[in-house]
Amino acid sequence: QIQKIHAREILDSRGNPTVETEVTLADGTTASAAVPSGASTGAYEAVELRDEDLHRYGGKGVLQATQNVNTVIADNLCGMDVSDIGAIDRRMLVLDASKNKSRLGANAILSVSIACAKAAAAALGIPLFRFLGGSNAVVLPVPMMNILNGGAHAANTVDIQEFMIMPVGAHSFHEGLRMCAEVFHALAAILKKEHLSTAVGDEGGYAPNLQNDEEALQYLSHAVEAAGYVLKKDFVFAIDAAASEWYTSGGNYLLPKSQKAYTSKELNAYWEGLVERFPIASIEDPLGEEDWSGWAELTQALGDRVQLVGDDLFVTNVQRLQKGIDQSCANAVLIKCNQIGTLSETLETIRLADRTGYASIVSHRSGETEDTTIADLAVAVNAGQIKTGAPSRTERIAKYNRLLRIEELLGNNAVYLGPCCF
Ligand code: PGA
Ligand code: ZN
Repeated sequence: QIQKIHAREILDSRGNPTVETEVTLADGTTASAAVPSGASTGAYEAVELRDEDLHRYGGKGVLQATQNVNTVIADNLCGMDVSDIGAIDRRMLVLDASKNKSRLGANAILSVSIACAKAAAAALGIPLFRFLGGSNAVVLPVPMMNILNGGAHAANTVDIQEFMIMPVGAHSFHEGLRMCAEVFHALAAILKKEHLSTAVGDEGGYAPNLQNDEEALQYLSHAVEAAGYVLKKDFVFAIDAAASEWYTSGGNYLLPKSQKAYTSKELNAYWEGLVERFPIASIEDPLGEEDWSGWAELTQALGDRVQLVGDDLFVTNVQRLQKGIDQSCANAVLIKCNQIGTLSETLETIRLADRTGYASIVSHRSGETEDTTIADLAVAVNAGQIKTGAPSRTERIAKYNRLLRIEELLGNNAVYLGPCCF
C-alpha cells in the first residue's frame, strides 16, 4: 500500500532540471525513479512540464511538475495497491484529463509510474525486470551503441545524429559490451592520429568535425577493423538520422549543417545508396514525423532487408504505431517511456509491436540520469535491442552495468540473440 509520494527537482546529464520521485509503502519499502529528457524531441510526444520561469535554469525548472506530484497525485494515490501499475497509471490519466499529459506533466506522471513499479518489485523482493516481465524475461539486448555523435547532440559538422555499432557476433551481452568498448577505444586512437577531436557529444560518442556524414561510417569501419573484428560478421552498423530535425515543409528537407537540400524521394535514394556501401542493418527516423508517404516508400524499398525504426514517427504512442502499421510504414518502433508518460502505455505499445511483427528497441534519451529502469525494461519485454549511448559518461554506463548484473543474475537462463535480434 502506498503511504507517501515525494518528488524533488534534480539535474540530468546536461545540467538541466528533471523530476525524481520517491515512493514509500506502508511496510517501509522505498523506491525512487528519475525521468530523462530529449533534445531532438518529436512533435507528438507527451508534454514535459517546464516552469518557463526565466529566472531559474533558463525557464527549464520543474517545480510545477514536482508540486503536482506532491499535491494532486500524492493525495489521490496514497492508499492504493502499489502492485497494480495499471490502476495507478489509469488514476493519473484521469487526474490529468488532457490529451498529451500537459496538465500534470508527463515528467511528473512517469516518475510516479516507474517509482511505484520499483517499489512493488522491492516489496516482493524481486528485480524490476522480473516484476514487469515475469519468468519469461530472459533476453539480454544487443547494444545499439552510439559511438559517433552529430545532429542536435553535438556541436560538429555532422548532420546524422547517431552512428551506432551492434555486436551481433558476440555470444553474450558481456562479450558484446567488451567488443563495443574495444571499438570505441580504437576509434579514439584513429581520431587522435588524424588530429580530430575526441571530445564527446550528449550520448558519449565522439563528435569530430568531418567532411561529410559518410566519412563517419568510414571511421567506424576502420575502428572495427583496428580492434580486430570483422564487419558484417562481428559488427553491423545502425544510424539514427533524426530527420524530423531536417524537415521543412511539403516533403522537403534541409540538412542544417551541410545545408544540403533533398526531396523525400531524393533522401530515400540516398539511404538506398548508403546501405549498398556500408553494412547498415538499421536506420532510425530516416524521414520526418509527418512524411508518412515517404516512410511507406522507403519501407517498400528496404523494409525486407533493413530495420526501419520509427522514433519521432511513433513517439511510443499506440495510435501512431497503429497508423504506421496500417500504412506499412517502418518495421520497428523505438521505445521511450517519457514520450508517452506511463509504464502501462509503454507496455501496451510494445504489445502491439509484438503482435504485428514490429521490433521494439528500448531507448534512453540524450538527457539522462543515473536511473537504470530502461535496462530492466529491455529484459522484461525481451526487446532484444537497446540504445543507451557510448561506453562513456556514467549516465550511459549505469545502464550497461545494470545489464551486466541482470545477466549474472539470470546465469544459464540468459539469452543473447546476436544476429537474430532483427
Ligand atoms: P533525444 O534523442 O533523446 O534527444 O530525442 C534520442 C533519439 O533521437 O533517439
Ligand atoms: Zn531517434
